[in-house]
Amino acid sequence: MATGDHSQTSGATPPIIACQALTKDFSRGRQTAPILADVNLAVDPGGFVTILGQSGGGKSTLLKLLGGFIPPTSGQVLFHGLPLPGITPKIGMVFQENTLYPWLTVEQNIGFGFKVRGKQPAQYRQQVKHFLEHVGLFSARQLYPHQLSGGMKQRVSIARSIAVQPDVLLLDEPFSALDIQLRRRLQGFLSAIWQDMATTMVLVTHNVEEAILLGQRLIVVGDRPGRIIETVDLSDPRFRDRYDARFLALQRHLEGVIEADAYMQDSRLPSHSAEMRSTIPNPAFNPSPKT
Ligand SMILES: Nc1ncnc2c1ncn2[C@@H]1O[C@H](COP(=O)(O)OP(=O)(O)OP(=O)(O)O)[C@@H](O)[C@H]1O
Ligand SMILES: [Mg+2]
Repeated sequence: MATGDHSQTSGATPPIIACQALTKDFSRGRQTAPILADVNLAVDPGGFVTILGQSGGGKSTLLKLLGGFIPPTSGQVLFHGLPLPGITPKIGMVFQENTLYPWLTVEQNIGFGFKVRGKQPAQYRQQVKHFLEHVGLFSARQLYPHQLSGGMKQRVSIARSIAVQPDVLLLDEPFSALDIQLRRRLQGFLSAIWQDMATTMVLVTHNVEEAILLGQRLIVVGDRPGRIIETVDLSDPRFRDRYDARFLALQRHLEGVIEADAYMQDSRLPSHSAEMRSTIPNPAFNPSPKT
């Protein structure tokens, strides 16, 4: 089941991105609230980590720290083994909110990363065309964001981030506003990009099924303060089939873990150690059965 050491990678190669003893406090009026406490995580190159947790638990904050968008209160983020000083084009981010530039067309939005790097359109036209086709938006290339559906906007956001070939792509609930059919199509789309481009991905979601289906490893962030309360290895191909019995058992287990965490908050218990969590009714599940 959960391992104590959440920073473990396969060990074959050094992690591409990692955080060590990471904490983040935010001030609320005169008080300081600890949002994340002692988060340790290491992601293999080409890995896909999914992050689950209840609302307000600090998932977006963790992603922003990993992308260098905000500084940690203590601890550090390591990128290619070196402390991450701030944002870098090598780490892309698809934010929870729609962040397309409304005054640019689909094509210009996707080419934006090249433009800010001082490239001339002739130098990146082909790459933009490739990504337009890849995300199925070639015929919509002249449209502006307000003329797009929610799913189209998300595809443009992902294409814009991936076009400049970051080493790591961070995705904050990229499909949360979409209906189930479109969500599933875009999950397949993201999975295909991950396989084709071997980009390391870290994706936050509220959707347990999505977290299992897409990830090679899954972490659950517990609330107040946010910290990793469970890690699951998803490399078994049975986790690619949402109807597999093992998949469904894990889904049920994780829903129990998140519910138990929410219950701990609601009960205002002073602490939520692993021992206390184990007293909460929780469907028995062993993610690594011997058989
Ligand atoms: N810039 C900020 N200043 C003060 N508090 C903040 C700031 N950003 C986030 N917080 C607080 O940190 C906590 C975690 O927020 P965060 O957005 O990381 O949660 P989350 O897990 O992503 O939630 P959700 O699932 O709803 O997106 C919340 O209580 C939020 O109010
Ligand atoms: Mg969030």
